[in-house]
Amino acid sequence: RTIADLGDLRGKKVLLRSDLNVPLDKSGNITDDGRVRASVPTIKRLTEQGARVIVVAHLGRPKGEPDPQYSLRPVAERLSQLLGQPVAFATDTVGDSAHEVVAGLQDGDVAVLENLRFNKGETSKDDAERGAFADQLASLADVFVSDGFGVVHRAQASVVDVAERLPQAAGGLVETEVGVLSRLTRPRRPYAVVLGGAKVSDKLGVIENLLKEADTLLIGGGMVFTFLAAQGYEVGKSLLEADQIDTVKGYLAEAENRGVDIVLPTDIVAADAFSADAHHEVVAADAIPADQMGLDIGPDSAEAFGAKIRESKTVFWNGPMGAFEMAPYAAGTKAVAEALVDATAAGALTVVGGGDSAAAVRQLGFHDDQFTHISTGGGASLEYLEGKTLPGLAVLED
Ligand code: 3PG
Repeated sequence: RTIADLGDLRGKKVLLRSDLNVPLDKSGNITDDGRVRASVPTIKRLTEQGARVIVVAHLGRPKGEPDPQYSLRPVAERLSQLLGQPVAFATDTVGDSAHEVVAGLQDGDVAVLENLRFNKGETSKDDAERGAFADQLASLADVFVSDGFGVVHRAQASVVDVAERLPQAAGGLVETEVGVLSRLTRPRRPYAVVLGGAKVSDKLGVIENLLKEADTLLIGGGMVFTFLAAQGYEVGKSLLEADQIDTVKGYLAEAENRGVDIVLPTDIVAADAFSADAHHEVVAADAIPADQMGLDIGPDSAEAFGAKIRESKTVFWNGPMGAFEMAPYAAGTKAVAEALVDATAAGALTVVGGGDSAAAVRQLGFHDDQFTHISTGGGASLEYLEGKTLPGLAVLED
């Protein structure tokens, strides 16, 4: 069901679950507002129909009670700027403030309620506790729209339980995300997947599934050192998950059996400390000195990765190639982004998934429209590509 199936929304109170979980710096400023921007079209669509929009969302992982550093107030302010209209803010989620703010909404108005995760019921594993919180949320509205694609992998009150209590529909962002990600499950070939980020252990399921679907897997980021170690190389002081080496050996063997090309870097930018002003140099990937750590893929590898990406018809990228937030280690991530931009221009379907990669491409000066799609999902897009059933999508189909 989509918003169109909800009928006439004029005067209706719409509870809208968005994913507004944005990164903040130490002073509480939003460092990447991509998710707030992505929430705007659905909100506008609802207000244009005369709905009274009640946005609910989480920020960070507070422990089920109010914690000012995770307040959604700055996000509500940013949303107001992007919408070009005032946005009311309730200082609680289901208490007096929320009820008062909702009662004051006129047709076409928007309110944001305080962080869902200030309430234990939101993430509780206890069905009754979660259900009781979902009852309170549902009592605020007439219908529910699920638009927080980034949280559809969470079986939480505002994602699943509330959808069982109100007439419901998927919002436009969820529709778009599912539409694009589903195209990755029947890719035009060659299909290349670029994986980076710190840990192999965060990506086990997705690697297993992609070994069945992709033609090429390009591996960079912190996780690459576990792959290099699995090939018997020394990785010095680089990030290493020793307990995953056997699993990775299994992946390398499986890739060979299936004819999947796993491409590892041949050179690495290594430094003597995790710092922008540390001494750094390009070394061979099989000869990282014992007192150094790898912080980016090297220039030869960046060129080889770029060539593979440019010759692909479908590309999915998750995870930076190095410690891109420090200039000396950003070149690998930048080269991959440039190659995706070229592939997009040549007609390939290119999808950037995951909060870190999305933030990386924007921080490095790229624009969303240079790629087919920048997913707002981190864990959600990976679990989708793992082929898992996502509870927040399943409940919309029931
Ligand atoms: C995300 O950042 O991936 C989503 O907002 C979900 O957040 P969570 O991992 O804290 O549940």
